[in-house]
Amino acid sequence: MDQQAIERYAKNHTTDHSELIKELIGVSDENLEHIDMLSGRLVGRLLSLLIKISGAGRVLEVGTFTGFSALTMAESLPEDGELFTCEYNERYEGIARTFFDKSKVGTKITLLMGKALETIPTISGSFDFVFLDADKINYPKYYEMILPRLEQGGIMVVDNVFWSGEVLDSESDKGRAIDELNRMIRDDDSVEQVMLPVRDGVTVLRKK
Ligand SMILES: C[S@@+](CC[C@H](N)C(=O)[O-])C[C@H]1O[C@@H](n2cnc3c(N)ncnc32)[C@H](O)[C@@H]1O
Repeated sequence: MDQQAIERYAKNHTTDHSELIKELIGVSDENLEHIDMLSGRLVGRLLSLLIKISGAGRVLEVGTFTGFSALTMAESLPEDGELFTCEYNERYEGIARTFFDKSKVGTKITLLMGKALETIPTISGSFDFVFLDADKINYPKYYEMILPRLEQGGIMVVDNVFWSGEVLDSESDKGRAIDELNRMIRDDDSVEQVMLPVRDGVTVLRKK
């Protein structure tokens, strides 16, 4: 099977982005060279559906980039929902803030600038939905830090759990860190999870 063709097919049979998010993708593409960091339609719609199905109301995202997944999730939250998103690169902040300000759901979003391991502890309370999508080397630390703050029945989605196959390569630092997290999740009796071969691998877990 041609993997690229089947991924295109999957995208073409998945709900499209809102017009504002299409604009955000266009602006990110015109201005930045790392557009492949943006998680894309399949992961975005998965996040959106999981939020709607679970009725999540308080979301934490680690790794904003230009705001694609933050805005996608905010569009899926209830009226009183809130989303905290962490980013440390000021190059991406401008586009993210511009689109949060343009969106009618932008008031639900709080963007925290700085290293996520330092900004997450400044947010009070617990979360019922978490999207982990930042520096791979720190994935195990994020898991240890955030899981105690995930509500019982809460959902965590982890992106890039295959890291282009580098999880199988013991020479890759990032691959090893992600593999370590994948093992932590597998061996953690407090969660149930599924690792999906969507794009670069996505784990969806639920805290029991
Ligand atoms: C894969 S991108 C996020 C993509 C975004 N979730 C989306 O779907 O459009 C990862 C982001 O994490 C940010 N990042 C990396 N290390 C970080 C850290 N220690 N603290 C906060 N943000 C970090 C990067 O600057 C980058 O914008």
